[in-house]
Amino acid sequence: MRTTIGKNIKVSIWGGSHEPAIGVDIAGLPRGTQIDMKELAAFLKRRAPGSSPLATGRKEPDLPLPVKGLTLTDQAVVTEDIISLEIKNTDTRSADYVKLRSVPRPGHADFTACIRYGDSLNMAGGGPFSARMTAPLCIAGGIAMQLLKKQGIEIGAHIYSVAEAQDIPFNPVNVSPELLTSLKEKDMAVISEDAKIEMTKKILAAKKCNDSVGGIVEVCSLDVPAGIGGAMYDGLESVLAPIFFGIPAVKGVEFGAGFKACQMYGSENNDPFYFDSNDVRTRTNNHGGILGGITTGMPLIVRLAFKPTPSIGIEQDSVDLDKKENTKLIIRGRHDPCVVVRAVPIVEAALALGILDSIMEVQK
Ligand SMILES: Cc1cc2nc3c(=O)[nH]c(=O)nc-3n(C[C@H](O)[C@H](O)[C@H](O)COP(=O)(O)O)c2cc1C
Repeated sequence: MRTTIGKNIKVSIWGGSHEPAIGVDIAGLPRGTQIDMKELAAFLKRRAPGSSPLATGRKEPDLPLPVKGLTLTDQAVVTEDIISLEIKNTDTRSADYVKLRSVPRPGHADFTACIRYGDSLNMAGGGPFSARMTAPLCIAGGIAMQLLKKQGIEIGAHIYSVAEAQDIPFNPVNVSPELLTSLKEKDMAVISEDAKIEMTKKILAAKKCNDSVGGIVEVCSLDVPAGIGGAMYDGLESVLAPIFFGIPAVKGVEFGAGFKACQMYGSENNDPFYFDSNDVRTRTNNHGGILGGITTGMPLIVRLAFKPTPSIGIEQDSVDLDKKENTKLIIRGRHDPCVVVRAVPIVEAALALGILDSIMEVQK
């Protein structure tokens, strides 16, 4: 199966969780564009399942392999209009998923995928609905981050919350590039060490009970120039929302003050303008760096809400679609007890793709 997003930089993700490989075709990168493959591999490693007790036990090196359209060098060069990269799936255990073909997991895509595609789809490991499909997204987004960095644009994210445990939010008017860099170097992208301890407790407690928890990822982009985006469906929020909602388990997206703005007066929510030398800035940043779909030059701040991992080991009610009867389901297999821990670089990748696409639109 293949799914495509983007206007100026077109990203087409293909494969499935237990297929031999997953990958991405990217159209729109100018020939001659350089991609630092070591930096890209390091970026993908931040998303890859590893040995952390906070993540799935599936072990995948997630090495991006050039297939077409770029040179096989550490500093790869784009040589064709469409480039293609893939990742081999090496650690599949499809037997864990046999029963789920007829008994769908509550909260997962098994039931709806069966209605939509029937038996034609290999749903082992969640098939094309699996979070594995975010690895190719991270290839495209990791490349976008490299290109944005060359234009002085930094992107970084942290775990804002896990269940009720909360990190220190980004300061909406003043996020330092050093903070964004330091978050990328942590095993768990959390600003406050106390919050990290609380979050870890929440995740391990849920895991111990064969349950799962959800959370929020907050992402920021610095130094996006003012004037990127457009009206209505050309607006940056409109460009970003579908990329964000393509990430499995995302149930809400908030720009700036988001839902909290509904509880404010206009006089509180409006961000007053002022001149900082020759630059127009705002004293507060409830608008999250976007007004009317167009960037203001203030930090871009977005929060994504992730639901708890649907695959849990507690007995649940389901249905047997073959026997047409109610049944009980206990899910075995390897699952993330909380998806936000690995979602941080995925969210960065998604933001990078949307910003790059919108910048390319303005530069046309
Ligand atoms: C990083 C990440 C890891 C995930 N890991 C799992 C997992 O181990 N088990 C699971 O059932 N769902 C996991 N999910 C969520 C499912 O893929 C997702 O809930 C499912 O495809 C249904 O889609 P929906 O929640 O968007 O409706 C993960 C999501 C992300 C972003």
